[in-house]
Amino acid sequence: MPENTHRPLCDSGVNTVIDRLASAQQFPPNDPRARLERDPHDYSEYGFSILPKQGDLIYLLCRGLRATRIVEFATSVGMSTLYFAAAVRDNGGGTVIGSEIVPAKVATAKRNLAAAGLSDYVDIREGDAHTTLRDLGGPVDFALIDGWLGNDPSLARQVIELIAPQLRVGGYVMNDNAEPDFLDYIRDPANGFLSVTLPLHGGTELGVKVDASPGSS
Ligand SMILES: C[S@@+](CC[C@H](N)C(=O)[O-])C[C@H]1O[C@@H](n2cnc3c(N)ncnc32)[C@H](O)[C@@H]1O
Repeated sequence: MPENTHRPLCDSGVNTVIDRLASAQQFPPNDPRARLERDPHDYSEYGFSILPKQGDLIYLLCRGLRATRIVEFATSVGMSTLYFAAAVRDNGGGTVIGSEIVPAKVATAKRNLAAAGLSDYVDIREGDAHTTLRDLGGPVDFALIDGWLGNDPSLARQVIELIAPQLRVGGYVMNDNAEPDFLDYIRDPANGFLSVTLPLHGGTELGVKVDASPGSS
């Protein structure tokens, strides 16, 4: 069967930047995702980015939701941000709130967004996501939880607890790293979500918020 090259995002300028990042993606010899207590500042050269197939899904879901307000933990060099920003632009406008603790990565992400013509659709907040994502300024339609391994509880778990009250009912959460304590949270109906595990990148969890006030009944 020939390779399926179909993609829902049909902007050659954006896709050129996405393709460049995808082909430049590399991993350090000792993958920090397999180790505990690694300092993200030591990995400023590495994107650890989502795969294009995950980006295609992000773009498609955000178009379907008519998403205009999106949050991501974290931004890294901006691969996921490119898909989100293209979706809000194509939905008529909006903002992607990014978060990244490594200043050099924030600079790289901003350059990549500018090269794709998408700078007007992003608010990349530099610093620790515990602080930068505390107040999203109103309900969001979609959240990506694609963080850094090595904390207990995991950063994914800490950040979903911060973001969940700020996600609208019907909004989606995508998780890339399958942190066990994140999965415990998103799969527990008491927290107001339904979720499914997709066969992408070794298991991508996709949740939808169905309950505005979990735990109140
Ligand atoms: C897996 S990467 C994100 C990849 C990005 N979503 C993409 O597709 O290109 C995780 C990022 O989290 C950042 N990070 C780690 N701890 C953080 C924190 N406490 N606050 C904000 N960013 C953090 C790391 O520097 C790293 O760039």
